Amino acid sequence: LFAGDSEFVKGVVAMSGLPEADRIEVCFAGRSNVGKSSLINAVTGRKGLARASNTPGRTQEINFFTQGPELYLVDLPGYGFANAPLKIVEKWQKLLKQYLSGRQTLRRAFVLIDSRHGVKPVDDEIMSLLDSSAVTFQCVMTKADKVKAKDRDRILSQVRQALSKHPAAYPEIILTSSEKGDGIPTLRSIIANLE
Ligand code: GTP
Ligand code: MG
Repeated sequence: LFAGDSEFVKGVVAMSGLPEADRIEVCFAGRSNVGKSSLINAVTGRKGLARASNTPGRTQEINFFTQGPELYLVDLPGYGFANAPLKIVEKWQKLLKQYLSGRQTLRRAFVLIDSRHGVKPVDDEIMSLLDSSAVTFQCVMTKADKVKAKDRDRILSQVRQALSKHPAAYPEIILTSSEKGDGIPTLRSIIANLE
C-alpha cells in the first residue's frame, strides 16, 4: 500500500470539495502544532510536502496527498487552538468533525499526542467522536526527541489510561520523532499493512 511517490492533490474547505472516495485513506488529527504536517513529511520522506510551521493553526484546510496509486494521506487542520478569528476556527472545526465522522474510505485516524503533554480534554473529545463514528484510531506520540525518558513513561501511562475508555482505540501506541526519524518506519509499515 505504501508504494510509490507522494504528491499534493488538493486542499479542501468543504465536504463538497473532497476528492472522489476511490482509494483507502488515513488521516492525521491532533491539536494545533502537535506535528501533523511534519509527520506527513517524515513518512513520505519529502520535506516540504506538507507545510509545517511553528505558528499554531498553520494548516487551515483538509489537505490530500497521494501515496502511490492506492492511498491518500490526509493532513487535517489542528484543533484546540488557532490564531484566527473565532468564526473561521468554528468553520474548520465543523469541517473536521464532518470529515472524521463521514468519510467512507477512511481506514484509520492517527491521533497525534505531544509526548510532553499527553491527552488533553480536546483530544478526548475527538476520540469520542471517532468512537461514535466507528473509525479506528491509533495514537501517535510526537516530538519524542523533546522528552526525557522518565517523563515519557509517565505520559505514556496517562495516554494508555485515556485510550482504555475508547472502544475505537487501537491499543498500540507509536512513539515518533519527525526530527530524528524515530518510529517513522514503524508508522510506514502500519499504514502499508492496512486493508
Ligand atoms: P497545525 O497545522 O498548526 O495544526 O500544526 P501541525 O500539527 O501540522 O504541526 P507542524 O508539523 O506544523 O509542527 C509544529 C512545530 O513543531 C514545527 O515548528 C515543527 O518543526 C515542530 N516539530 C514537529 N515535529 C517535531 C519533532 O518530532 N521534533 C521536534 N523537536 N519538533 C517537531
Ligand atoms: Mg499542519
